[in-house]
Amino acid sequence: MPLLSLQGVTKRYPGGVEALRDVSFEVNEGEFLFLAGPSGAGKTTLLRLLVRLEVATQGDILVFGRHLQRIRESSVPYLRRNIGFVFQDFRLLGDRTVAENVALGLHILGLTRREIRSRVEEALADLQLEGLAASLPAALSGGEQQRVAIARALVMHPPLLLADEPTGNLDWDLSNETVRLLARLNRRGTTVIMATHDRFLLREWPYRTLWLHRGALVEDRPASPAPGSTEAS
Ligand SMILES: Nc1ncnc2c1ncn2[C@@H]1O[C@H](COP(=O)(O)OP(=O)(O)OP(=O)(O)O)[C@@H](O)[C@H]1O
Ligand SMILES: [Mg+2]
Repeated sequence: MPLLSLQGVTKRYPGGVEALRDVSFEVNEGEFLFLAGPSGAGKTTLLRLLVRLEVATQGDILVFGRHLQRIRESSVPYLRRNIGFVFQDFRLLGDRTVAENVALGLHILGLTRREIRSRVEEALADLQLEGLAASLPAALSGGEQQRVAIARALVMHPPLLLADEPTGNLDWDLSNETVRLLARLNRRGTTVIMATHDRFLLREWPYRTLWLHRGALVEDRPASPAPGSTEAS
């Protein structure tokens, strides 16, 4: 059974904008895939549907074997516990330090303080944020805030990670480094879906790519043989 599947999914927002139209695809456990397409194509809408931040107007969405159209509201937190989400607009708490922001979700997992500290340190190191642990978000650059948002999702070790333009504010080196990190997590078993419209990244990392255009899935391009190979030109 695929990890997630969409069947004929349409999303119409109040006011009539059709953000997704009759979208169908499946993702297997362990895949890495890009969600590509121009601004307004429906990438964020699609990711939000997968964690039930939005509800589809039509169609069927299955995640971890659960039909999201039929799931009880009380089960939604359990669904989200298994899905890391990196928001396009970060959503950091302004009155908490970087380390506290990253640790936020860990408290519900029932870990000891020592385990929490070590996971936070590991995530901060992965994102090259060690020196900023005690800073408040307002004191960080956009790219640093973005990396905190990524660390906050990674620290949960989720089986499924959804990242909405996680490199939108990063320069080329950090963008590449971020995808390398996601690829490493993917090799350890995390299924990763990353929205991006960065064509350089898409060329450098030839993973499976779903192309959206005005709400329609126009291409499902399989991975080239060696994603991440530097020979990609
Ligand atoms: N809450 C909302 N209410 C009404 N319309 C919305 C809402 N959110 C998004 N839309 C519309 O749905 C369409 C798809 O938007 P979405 O944010 O999913 O695109 P996107 O591919 O993520 O774009 P970007 O690359 O700019 O982030 C757009 O036309 C947008 O204006
Ligand atoms: Mg978006």
